[in-house]
Amino acid sequence: MMVRLLFIGDVVGRSGRAAVIQEVPRLRARWELDFIIVNGENAAGGFGLTETIFEEFLAAGVDAVTLGNHAFDQKEALVFIERQPRLIRPANFPPGTPGRGAGVVASAKGARLLIVNVLGRIFMDALDDPFAAVKREVCACPLGEGCNASVVDIHAEATSEKSAIGYIVDGKVSLVVGTHTHVPSADHRILPCGTGFVTDVGMTGDYDSVIGMEKEEPLRRFTRRIPSGRFEPALGPATLCAVAVEIGDDGLTKAIAPVRIGGLLSSAAPEFWA
Ligand SMILES: [Fe+2]
Ligand SMILES: [Fe+2]
Repeated sequence: MMVRLLFIGDVVGRSGRAAVIQEVPRLRARWELDFIIVNGENAAGGFGLTETIFEEFLAAGVDAVTLGNHAFDQKEALVFIERQPRLIRPANFPPGTPGRGAGVVASAKGARLLIVNVLGRIFMDALDDPFAAVKREVCACPLGEGCNASVVDIHAEATSEKSAIGYIVDGKVSLVVGTHTHVPSADHRILPCGTGFVTDVGMTGDYDSVIGMEKEEPLRRFTRRIPSGRFEPALGPATLCAVAVEIGDDGLTKAIAPVRIGGLLSSAAPEFWA
């Protein structure tokens, strides 16, 4: 079964949420999308996710939401994640962490998509081995058996670690996408064994900012080292950043392209769906 998937990068604050809620229904219809996944770790004021925001995403047509290092910044997420199977947190959090690190959702046409979220360890908190976690989750739900398509969201700082995650599951998942840096990379491609890959999808937020935050406080902290205010999401128009992926009957990627809509960045859309 052919599958059309859109993965939208880290949604930052109100500006990012507005872009998702405006664009998702339109894009689903225009591109006949089977699945839309969003990284929602910064959706609530830049830090974490509330259940109300999560449900707004679902109501707009998002199929599942992934997280990252900010997964539990809003403490309510520790509770509501247990009743929301479409909310996926990093798989390599310590045993006993609420929620799940992988999940399967079905499309209207009956395709099944495995979603795995994992955190990198370089320049980030020490966690369980992300490579072992990804291999465990992917082996538990193989392409063509447990699912028709699969996506791994590697939420990490280091480009090297994200690239290595891509190659370790090349041919075993449909797509590996990087998130967390909030800056889109231009290396979207299909790996030798058929897995679509991009180092970072980029954020969905106001790019006239320091990775989504109002500039003043980050500049003060970088130059004076003394925090003198809160980080607040920038409120200008967002650029929605995503990758568009066409997945074949074998579960492997046939085409991948960046998507950028609105805001400051140059626009981009998949020619193969024109
Ligand atoms: Fe983020
Ligand atoms: Fe992050």
